[in-house]
Amino acid sequence: MPGRRTERPPRSIAVEPGWRSPSAPNTSRSRGPADDFFGSVGSRPEIYPIYWSPPQMQARQSERMASVQAFLNTQWTSQSDGVQWFDPARDSLYPDRIRRRPEGADSAGLGPHLDPGTLDLWMTQAYQRAFRRLFDGTVEQYDPWDAAHRTAGPQYEGTTMCSAFRTFQGWTALSDVDHDQGVLHTVPIPEAMGYLMVRPLLDDVADDDMCGVTVNQVFPASARWHPLLLEALSGIPDVRAGDSVWWHCDMIHSVAPVTSQRG
Ligand SMILES: [Fe+2]
Repeated sequence: MPGRRTERPPRSIAVEPGWRSPSAPNTSRSRGPADDFFGSVGSRPEIYPIYWSPPQMQARQSERMASVQAFLNTQWTSQSDGVQWFDPARDSLYPDRIRRRPEGADSAGLGPHLDPGTLDLWMTQAYQRAFRRLFDGTVEQYDPWDAAHRTAGPQYEGTTMCSAFRTFQGWTALSDVDHDQGVLHTVPIPEAMGYLMVRPLLDDVADDDMCGVTVNQVFPASARWHPLLLEALSGIPDVRAGDSVWWHCDMIHSVAPVTSQRG
């Protein structure tokens, strides 16, 4: 329809000139160790172990980014049973890596997975309490937005694991990327964690197999064990430089493959 416009939400940050320069993040002080975190989903994503570059730090410390994160934190129930499990008004900088694909690149993407933990989700007392509704016959009352016990227990160690409780995970775009150019996909159902946690306990899974979950690697969601969930895998819309996208920490996500990358 002529004249019709779709209102876009404001961008999360203003991207500074020079942030996308190939040399911008590439300082030895910014780098962490390489890892095999994504080995369990059979992908080698274009992710670089760069955590502390000036552009990353400037984006993380943007006031607008802090406002977005404070709003997102309030989506959780942070207080229950007389305990404040976390303070939604207080955030910490969480260092994560950089994804970079040059113009014209081919990429196999990154298989569906989730990141809140691995075997510790079943094995630690804190997570057993957090997920108690899934195992005590009251599954209808499971609330993926209830933070109770999520900040109370340890995570199993690994080179890429972190004990910080991440209410959401996020991506910040440093360039314009169309929706068909290898962008983020999610299964936008936080409650799906219930299915993922119970699935290895069903009769068709061997006693020593947790549907592929193991320590120090990402938690895979697979066509073999979770085909119904993967039917809901959906891509994000076009993003422009400075947009950020956020998803509940328990959500399955992946990166679509792309050939001859544009943008
Ligand atoms: Fe991930």
